Amino acid sequence: MAHVSAVSAAVKRLEGKVAIITGGASGIGAATARLFSEHGAHVVIADIQDDLGLSVCNELKSAVYVHCDVTKEEDVEKCVNVTVSKYGKLDIMLNNAGTCHELKDSIVDNITSEFERVISVNVVGPFLGTKHAARVMIPAKRGCIINTSSIAGCRGTGSPHAYVVSKHGLEGLTKNTAVELGQFGIRVNCVSPYLVATPMLKKYFNLDEEGVREAYSNLKGSYLVPNDVAEAALFLAGDESNYVSGHSLLLDGGYTITNAGFSPNAGFSPGQSE
Ligand SMILES: NC(=O)c1ccc[n+]([C@@H]2O[C@H](COP(=O)([O-])OP(=O)(O)OC[C@H]3O[C@@H](n4cnc5c(N)ncnc54)[C@H](O)[C@@H]3O)[C@@H](O)[C@H]2O)c1
Repeated sequence: MAHVSAVSAAVKRLEGKVAIITGGASGIGAATARLFSEHGAHVVIADIQDDLGLSVCNELKSAVYVHCDVTKEEDVEKCVNVTVSKYGKLDIMLNNAGTCHELKDSIVDNITSEFERVISVNVVGPFLGTKHAARVMIPAKRGCIINTSSIAGCRGTGSPHAYVVSKHGLEGLTKNTAVELGQFGIRVNCVSPYLVATPMLKKYFNLDEEGVREAYSNLKGSYLVPNDVAEAALFLAGDESNYVSGHSLLLDGGYTITNAGFSPNAGFSPGQSE
């Protein structure tokens, strides 16, 4: 008889739950949409890349696509309303849509309108997502809000200033809304990844999968892929994390706990001698 694992493959951790995923047309958001769907969730993909968003939706068992620019309050409000009228509730809001701009050598060369655009997508977007999710979660006295932050939310990383500022702001939004919304049984958390090879990373950081594999990390023999971030979001969205709120779940292979300048292993691959 075939071995049946103690945790059967049929265990669905989000059965019947309803999730909005902003930025769900691509990268981390698309991987999370697929995983949430495999775990029995109804998924609403909210994005501005309509063709891509619709094609991800078509792969899923129960999903709809809503064109939603997260910087526009009327779009976010409509997305939440469409979700509640179609599925009757909203259990999970994943504020994942994000952007960046190309790295400039000096802050002196940074363009104010680019700075404002990044803040608008990466901070105002999650603010609006949280606001409109809370509007329907508060009366229900339950819900789970997850923000896709980054290691740039707790470190100066050499990324564009706007990106680092936006992710620090998002960590603040997460903590402060967790404080307020806890009284209604609503949990608010972040997933905070290191480098993942997605279109955003390629476009703004000029890094592909090979670059990610070679990037410095304390943990050898592994590198981050979109599904790893999706698994972390699944943990924060599901009942397994019932008492976790206001938390930033770092997925960084130990990157942020090390000081590469002092680490005896910094810069050396396993097996390599000095
Ligand atoms: N890739 C990485 O290395 C990395 C690391 C840490 C955090 N993140 C974060 O992960 C999140 C997802 O990024 P990704 O790497 O999957 O990139 P991606 O480019 O593959 O996906 C981003 C998605 O956001 C959407 N989007 C952008 N602006 C939008 C807007 N105004 N309204 C609605 N949707 C919009 C895009 O259309 C796209 O589908 C972002 O918040 C990003 O900052 C990425």
